[in-house]
Amino acid sequence: MGAKVNRVNEIWIEGGKPLNGETVIQGSKNAVLPMMAASLLQEGSLVLRGCPKILDVFAMENILQSLGAKTKWKGHTLTIQCETICGENIANHYAESMRSSVFLMGSMLVRNGSVQISYPGGCKIGKRPIDLHLQLLKCMGCLICEREDGLEISSPCGLFGVDFTFPFPSVGATENAILAAVGAKGSSRFENCAREPEIMHLCRLLQKMGAKIDGIGTSTLMIEGGRPLKAVEYDVPSDRIVAGTYLYAVAATKGCAVLHGVPLEEMQSIFQVYEKMGGQWEYIGGKLKVNAKNVRYPITHLVTDSYPGFPTDMQSVLLSVLLTVSGTSCVREEIFENRFLIIPELQRMGGSIATKGKCAFVTGKSLLHGACVEAKELRGGAALLVAGLSASGTTRIKHAHYIQRGYEDIDIRIQELGGTIIKI
Ligand code: UD1
Repeated sequence: MGAKVNRVNEIWIEGGKPLNGETVIQGSKNAVLPMMAASLLQEGSLVLRGCPKILDVFAMENILQSLGAKTKWKGHTLTIQCETICGENIANHYAESMRSSVFLMGSMLVRNGSVQISYPGGCKIGKRPIDLHLQLLKCMGCLICEREDGLEISSPCGLFGVDFTFPFPSVGATENAILAAVGAKGSSRFENCAREPEIMHLCRLLQKMGAKIDGIGTSTLMIEGGRPLKAVEYDVPSDRIVAGTYLYAVAATKGCAVLHGVPLEEMQSIFQVYEKMGGQWEYIGGKLKVNAKNVRYPITHLVTDSYPGFPTDMQSVLLSVLLTVSGTSCVREEIFENRFLIIPELQRMGGSIATKGKCAFVTGKSLLHGACVEAKELRGGAALLVAGLSASGTTRIKHAHYIQRGYEDIDIRIQELGGTIIKI
């Protein structure tokens, strides 16, 4: 079984004081998960350095083990040995608990010619259908049998390269397309791909393994399939959403901090909003120095968008910061239809937020007070933590294990930043 962390029940925070400290940013969840799926495309050992120790990584590790892979941790280096892959069934309890199991469809079809998977789950942030993934796999020559409890997919004649235009950019579908196309016969051309940095990192890993991919970082990707892929070692990049969360935690408490390993160039929209709120920063010698003492301006209109737009994964955390500044802000969620789940919990802490359709209207400066609140999903849980740090008194976050899906040792990182927090 995979390396374990203890699942946390509750996090308690004693808030109301500015953060002031120094911490390091972990490896990226959204980059490493498709990289782990890519391990199935070769028969040696893929070595991923700087791998975050978070629940989603352990869940993906467990799935790979259940398919026959052997894994080993040494510090933050994860080695995945894929000499013998015998299973083709991704057990229901794994797929249902983690949407990223969807990446395994492409890799498994390349490796095995078939895969059985129940409908992937993940955070409760809307329907999150997988129709694009299936449409694409059909075009690549797959037969798909939809059962009540899941899918049986096979590629009896192998996968074939395709020309495919995504109706809208989907991160997961783009990543699945890439993983399938590197193992397909012939060339593929994908238009209107998502351009999130994690897709670029996956392509770079696959290039190092021997794949031929052009157009990296653009919305058109061209892939020559069928080249043999070899085992490599690779550094997992830093997590831009975790870096953004810690930056915004400092902003919510009007503190000062030093953050190491921030992927600055991938965070432009996050910094633009931070600056608009009055935040200052400088980047010297690989260190990000953050001064949030002047964070006091609302954001009159912000829309979440695919990269390079403002990431939906930062939306809930931003709401927590906006509750601490005077005036009314408006945030429009355009990616997921149900990503305001955390608002009732922020209201319990005294937050004034109203929603109308896709928009959240935040009226700040109603000093938050600690309360007993419940995390419902990963990023909303992080938002509660940020709100708790800015609020007076004690905040108890129940179901805090959602936060562990994406944040490694968040209690230690926040303590390093000067916050008072304990895990129960
Ligand atoms: C990935 C990220 C997630 C982030 C999201 C958007 C990982 C592991 N997760 O999720 O953290 O919030 O990108 O940046 O990288 N959609 C369909 N049909 C499909 C696929 C998607 O309708 O077949 C819809 C979704 O329901 C959603 C939108 O497209 O409304 C964007 O989803 P997508 O970009 O695919 O997100 P994920 O890959 O699931």
